Amino acid sequence: MIDVIVVARQMEARDIATLFLARPDGSPLPAFGAGSHIDVHLPNGLVRQYSLCNPPGERQSYQIGVLRDPASRGGSQAVHDLLKPGERLRIGEPRNLFPLEERAGRSLLFAGGIGITPILCMAERLAQLGADFALHYCARSAERAAFVGRLRGSMFADRVHLHFDDGESGQRLDAARLLAGPDDDTHLYVCGPNGFMSHVLDTAQSLGWAEGRLHREYFAAPVQAESASDAFEIQLASSGQVFRVPTDKSVVQVLDEAGVCIPVSCEQGICGTCLTRVLDGVPEHRDLFMTDDERARNDQFTPCCSRARSARLLLDL
Ligand code: FES
Repeated sequence: MIDVIVVARQMEARDIATLFLARPDGSPLPAFGAGSHIDVHLPNGLVRQYSLCNPPGERQSYQIGVLRDPASRGGSQAVHDLLKPGERLRIGEPRNLFPLEERAGRSLLFAGGIGITPILCMAERLAQLGADFALHYCARSAERAAFVGRLRGSMFADRVHLHFDDGESGQRLDAARLLAGPDDDTHLYVCGPNGFMSHVLDTAQSLGWAEGRLHREYFAAPVQAESASDAFEIQLASSGQVFRVPTDKSVVQVLDEAGVCIPVSCEQGICGTCLTRVLDGVPEHRDLFMTDDERARNDQFTPCCSRARSARLLLDL
């Protein structure tokens, strides 16, 4: 955990604030790679993940961009309402679950709305490397698009393509055209609202993109259509203890009540913090973190949200 202070804050676009966080004594923060995020411990007790949108290499402060979300579960409202300059808070060290494949022959970056935050950092890193890339940034309107001035003033402005929902039809995102003819040396990065991500990723998959060249970062898990599965049991390999997981509780909650603490962060199956090895039994995966291949192996699961298809799971705990 790192103690920081909000050293500056500005409105970047309608409903989007950027905050600069620095150590109180001004000493450098840990280095981070493009695509990294930090856990932000908010004054109301919530922990939320925000991507770093600094130019890569900066260590005097971390910059995060936060959309005030009317459907907020309390995180984005707290950032907008409570985090003013001078406010002290704690953050986690940067973690990168959305890393760049820096040696790719070409990179395509697709951002929707506030999904621009990690993508911006990636574009700046690729430009620094002299790599071949293009950035497609979709927003509802120009007034809701953050960092447009920074993008237009960058040395890679000619590779930035802006697509506004309320703009001329000719400038709208045509994912099928942009993703046609995938080759083995191009990687695709997507971040934004779930509908945007599904559209881009489904298009890529239907055009034959290999899963290993698709990179994604979700902000929130889609609402699960399926209801909670039946109750099941979990057994701890170390002690042999068995616990029943009822339909209305997660594995993490059940274990927490029994004094077994599993570290969590997003509690939605997005971040992978709670990933736990499964030694026997079949999980019902409800996360967005693992790849299809990883899920099919059934040797790990995310106990914050995933459940079980078998009557019992033996956990490496
Ligand atoms: S806490 Fe984030 S995936 Fe479980």
